[in-house]
Amino acid sequence: MTAAKTLGDKAKNLAQFGGTPVSAKPVPFMSTALTEADIEACNAVLRSGMLRAATKCAELETRWSALTESKFAMTCANGTCALQLAYEPLIKRGDDVLVPAWSYIATVSMVVARGANPIFVDALPDTYQIDPRDAARKVTRNTTAIAATHLYGCPVDIDAIQDLAEKKNLMVIYDAAQAHLATYAGRGLGAFGDAVTYSLYATKNLATGEGGIVTCNDEGLAREIQLLRSHGETDKYLHESIGYNYRMNDMAGAIGCSRLDRLQDQTNTRRANAAKYDKIISRIDGLLAPRATPKSDPVFHLYTAQLNLPKFRCTRDEFVAALKAEGVPTAVHYPRPLPKQPALSAHDADDTPVADVLCNKVFCLPMHHDLTEDHFNIVGEALAKVADAMKA
Ligand SMILES: Cc1ncc(COP(=O)(O)O)c(C=O)c1O
Repeated sequence: MTAAKTLGDKAKNLAQFGGTPVSAKPVPFMSTALTEADIEACNAVLRSGMLRAATKCAELETRWSALTESKFAMTCANGTCALQLAYEPLIKRGDDVLVPAWSYIATVSMVVARGANPIFVDALPDTYQIDPRDAARKVTRNTTAIAATHLYGCPVDIDAIQDLAEKKNLMVIYDAAQAHLATYAGRGLGAFGDAVTYSLYATKNLATGEGGIVTCNDEGLAREIQLLRSHGETDKYLHESIGYNYRMNDMAGAIGCSRLDRLQDQTNTRRANAAKYDKIISRIDGLLAPRATPKSDPVFHLYTAQLNLPKFRCTRDEFVAALKAEGVPTAVHYPRPLPKQPALSAHDADDTPVADVLCNKVFCLPMHHDLTEDHFNIVGEALAKVADAMKA
């Protein structure tokens, strides 16, 4: 940790060095509480005694395909299973697959688990999304697919990705684990690509604890995914193909349906909250707000800002430690680019320079539907205080 004396006089006022914190009570980083209606919906399934995937999973599927503008939605156990269910029919062993260097590991590790070869594509420095030009440069003769994450809830440049896919005859799988209800060119994300996957993990915008959904628009593919999800079973104990048990259960389905009643309102609140952060950040030298891809309407699963490091005398980790002491918790998504993960480093071609530096600059501010004006005042004051004390 940089010592107060090397930072100058203003640092003495930082809570970290004994000054008064902006807020003694930390701003809540996320809001995951269930309502009585959610609990009652789950209780109704518990009381029924029938916990397997049934009417509630089916209801979630129908509503999700309508909301995301996809023809078919299949619930499953989690977002990682959703990726596997999408990848297995669309990617062959040994294929080269373009993947983001800047994402959560599952987007890429499930490509490796499929037996395919990930080719890392760099990120754009302002939207953090996969760079379509770098993707185009990296297509090989064996490339058959592109897996792209709508990271932090912001859609990628879908026009450019679909254009590349058409020219090079690539399958497209979008990982929308963080992008529930985001839109692109005014349309739901299920309208684009060959398959779209979602995670309903406990902290996601729509959260069922563990859970996932795959959507697609091709009936044959939907059938393949349904078979893979449940041991290739076409009739009781008749198994047409090899599959897995990747099914959701109706308790998760019931919580998902109940929470879905509020998701659009909560999403609108996240967007309004992001606009408030944009304003706060625009007034502080050295801080950069996230930019949205053209035509996209992001849903801010995470609000990821970055530091213009040469403007400060501290590292990002020191900056966020000081913020925490002031009452503003943050998170770093992600501390390493994927090619530098030990599990994936065998595939690292050392040619994703943007992702290599983003990991030292980004930090996520508290983002959820329960933030109050008080919280924004605290975050604004703490950011200004820490930035001023740490400025170069
Ligand atoms: C972008 C992305 N893809 C995939 C996943 C995996 O989802 P799950 O944790 O439900 O398996 C996550 C979850 O954190 C994610 O953020």
